[in-house]
Formats: sequence, C-alpha cells, structure tokens
Amino acid sequence: MRDLREWIALLEREGELVRVAAEVDPDLEVTEIADRTVKAGGPALLFESLKGARHPLLINQFGTERRMCLAFGVERLDDVARKVSDVLEMQPPQGLMDKVRGLQKLKSIADSRPQKVRRGPVHEIVLEGDDVDLALLPVQRCWPGDPAPFITLPAVITKDPRNGNRNVGMYRMQVVDRNTTFMHWQIHKDGRADWLATDGRIPVAVALGLDPVTAYSASAPLPKHIDELMLAGFLRGEPVELVQGVTVDLEVPAHAEIVLEGYIERDELGTEGPFGDHTGYYTAPEPFPVFHITAMTMRRDAVYPSIVVGKPPQEDAWLGKATERIFLPAIRATVPEIVDYDLPIAGAFHNCCIVSIKKAFPGHAHKVMHAIWGLGMLSLTKSIVVVDAHVDVHDYAQVLFYAGANVDPKRDVVIAEGPLDHLDHAPERQFVGGKLGIDATAKLPEEGARPWPEEIEMSAEIRDLVDRRWAEYGLESIPGAGNGRLGQTLRSLRQLQRR
Ligand SMILES: Cc1cc2nc3c(=O)[nH]c(=O)nc-3n(C[C@H](O)[C@H](O)[C@H](O)COP(=O)(O)O)c2cc1C
Repeated sequence: MRDLREWIALLEREGELVRVAAEVDPDLEVTEIADRTVKAGGPALLFESLKGARHPLLINQFGTERRMCLAFGVERLDDVARKVSDVLEMQPPQGLMDKVRGLQKLKSIADSRPQKVRRGPVHEIVLEGDDVDLALLPVQRCWPGDPAPFITLPAVITKDPRNGNRNVGMYRMQVVDRNTTFMHWQIHKDGRADWLATDGRIPVAVALGLDPVTAYSASAPLPKHIDELMLAGFLRGEPVELVQGVTVDLEVPAHAEIVLEGYIERDELGTEGPFGDHTGYYTAPEPFPVFHITAMTMRRDAVYPSIVVGKPPQEDAWLGKATERIFLPAIRATVPEIVDYDLPIAGAFHNCCIVSIKKAFPGHAHKVMHAIWGLGMLSLTKSIVVVDAHVDVHDYAQVLFYAGANVDPKRDVVIAEGPLDHLDHAPERQFVGGKLGIDATAKLPEEGARPWPEEIEMSAEIRDLVDRRWAEYGLESIPGAGNGRLGQTLRSLRQLQRR
C-alpha cells in the first residue's frame, strides 16, 4: 500500500471501517467512542465531521489482530517475522537455486531503501509562516486531566547531526499554540539523542497519515543506525518515496497526508504534560523540548490520523504485538536458546515478559533474564518469567501453572536493578529501579533441586485412540474436546523436539 488512502479503501472493502457522519468533539468525545470501540474489538472509525476542525480523523486503524495482519498483507503476524528471519538467517548458498534465492533476498534488501522523487501529493497545499495553524486539524484532547490536545500518531523525522543518519520515531506532541508543540522525546530514545547531539537547532519533520506499515515502522525499536524507512520499505516490498522538505533540509514521505516542518532548539524546554498514558496513569509534567513549525504541507482533503493510549487494552496493543513478533528473529539471533516470548498486553508491554528457552545447563534461565535486561528496549522490562521450551508462552494459564508448580521463591526469584521505562511511576527514583526474574523451568540437581518429578501426560496411543473414537462416545457437543487442545499440545511438543 502506497498511502493512507489505499489503506482506508482496503479497510472499507474488508468491512473493517465505519464512517461516522455525526459531528463529534475531538475534545474527549472521540476518546470515549474509540475506547469503547477498541475494547469491543470493533472497526476503524473515520470521523468525517469534527467540531472546530476542517479535516476528518481516522482512529482504531490498528485495533485488532486482523487489521494488523491486513496492514502487513499476511495471515498471521508470525509471517512477517518469517520474512525477517529469512534474511537474518541467510547461509552461504549451496547450488544454483540457492544462489538465485539468495540474490532475490539481497535484492529485496537493496530495494528497501527509500527513493527520492521530485514531487509528491503531500505538497498539494503548502502553508508557511503565519498561515500555519494546528487548529485546522482535529487534534484530540484525550483524557480529562490532559492540559491540551496531543498529536498522538506522528512519524517524527530527524537526522543525526554527527553522521547524517535518519531517525524516525513516534513521540506524542502536546499542542502549545497554532505553530508550536512539545516533543516528547524520552531519555532512552534515538530522536532525543539526535537532538542532544546538536549545539544549535535541529530540523524536524513530522509526517501524519501514512500507509500502515510506514506508520508502524516509526514505533519499531530499531538500533540507532538503521533507518526506520528502510524497514518500512522492506516490509512493504516497495520503497517509501520521499520529497525534499519545503523549509527544512530533510526528506519527507511524498504520500503523507500532512507534514509539519520546523526546528527544535538545543536549549529550549517547556513543561509538557500531564498526559493520560499507556501506563494507565497520568504521567507527571516534565520538561521537554519545544517544536516550532515553519511549514504545514498537506494533500487536498487530508485525513488526520490519531490513536488513544490509556489503560490496556488500547489500539497501541497491536502495534506492540507486531513488534513482539517481528523482532523475535532478531532476538533469537542474539540469544538463540530463546524459543518464543510474549509481552502480555495487560502488562503494558514493558512490565512483563514471558520467555521460553531450550534449557541446557544450570543457571540457564538466569543467563536469559540478564540477556533480556541487556537487549535494546527490552532492557526496560520490569519482570521476566522463564519457562521451558514446551510451554506455550501465549497461554497464560499454562505459564501460571509452571510459575506456581516449578518455583521455590527463595531459590528461583531474582531481584536485580537496572533502567526502567521513562514513564514508570512505581520505582522510588525515576528511570532506575528493581527488576524481577522468576525461573519457572524444571530444575537440575546442580540448581539445588531434589530429583525432579515426572510431569503427568497421557500416553500418545490413548490420546490418538480417544481422538479417533470421540464421535462414537456421542460427546461431539463438548466444544473443543474432540481432538482438540490435548492433541494439539502434543503435536507442538513433538515439533519442538524435532527442532
Ligand atoms: C502510540 C505510541 C505513542 C508513543 N509515544 C511515545 C512518546 O511520546 N515518547 C517516546 O519517547 N516514545 C513513544 N513511543 C515509543 C516510541 O515510538 C518507540 O520507542 C520508538 O522505537 C522510538 O524510536 P527511536 O528509538 O528511534 O527514538 C510511542 C509508541 C506508540 C506506539
């Protein structure tokens, strides 16, 4: 998909979008409607008439697993991960066909680079200087304690002044006046590092209203030297087209609905917040840099995109789940004993990580905990539960069973210390605090365990027999019992053993 319009058309064809013609207020009312819709698993909403604003507002475009899969053009999010692991796990080719396949993969990487074009629809309307007016857009005030409207779904583009490398990130922007906002660059983020590396002012461009994969890529926790637009090109299978900004020395997505261009001074800060955040609480006011807008460029009839964060589950859950799946191959490339992991939506992602491992030696679970606490943005994870390879990390009942059955809290709980999410209000000090690791794997004698008992499992023959005879028993009316979950668990166990 090239742009937001193609995405809206696809959502509409798939019955995944509802247009709302009634006038609604971007001040709180949109949030309440979106919150109810997201929690009901409902469709994307295109509000066509917003009080006080000229442009329509799209929300809940990412709010279900199905829509997230539609965005990536896959059946399951793991299919996207497969595409990534295909490239990460490339081996020297053997034979001609292997070479051809290898070349195709390399070409798909080469073709991911953004492409500069001379003109783009994002420049159909150009407002500069005094004509810039954020009040044209239906920017939401999300929660009653928010002091102002916040732009919530931006792709913020900067360049590292030291080497010119591009960064694209998603950071909320509190509206200050018609041409000024704050920029919520948290301390662990690459956008903030670009800003801190300048000794004067840094040019900034903010793209609003992108194709869904490019919008997702802005939120992806890539290492600093990798361009998020390259990831977008790779995942889309076609490069993102860029045009030169009008007032800044930055390239901007040619097919964005709206772009805000401007600059941020190294030493100008203002008090941002409070903001009803993805932690489920208001984050306290804090000093953040000030973004001055020099130009606002748009497509005709531009659609303004928005998202609400708050107590989970919210729409951002599925952006987070996409990251969880897409980054699994990269995590396994560094810590290969990891089989799978799950960041529960209800745990607001950074609060909890469940990870399954192929345990091979005493202390292995502890090794993996510390690896995660040292790995990119996962380093901010507050608590980790480690289970054995056969446990399904996405089945929380199974995880709780092993966390209960296999744990001696005195022996198997690790309390460590390290960096925490910028927004975490629980620790004594901001940014650093305690970490909790629970080793729920079966224990080895060297780990101080008595002989470990055998887990209860029905024999395969009896399971197969009952699967085959289920209809004979006249029990078809019992949902899911027929062949179902036990047989399935066994199959996935067998698959794991074969790996
Ligand atoms: C809806 C949404 C809102 C976000 N808001 C912020 C924010 O206000 N500040 C921030 O630092 N990160 C925010 N994030 C997380 C960043 O987008 C994410 O960490 C990204 O990887 C940052 O990019 P960077 O590491 O290149 O700076 C948000 C993510 C989502 C999905």
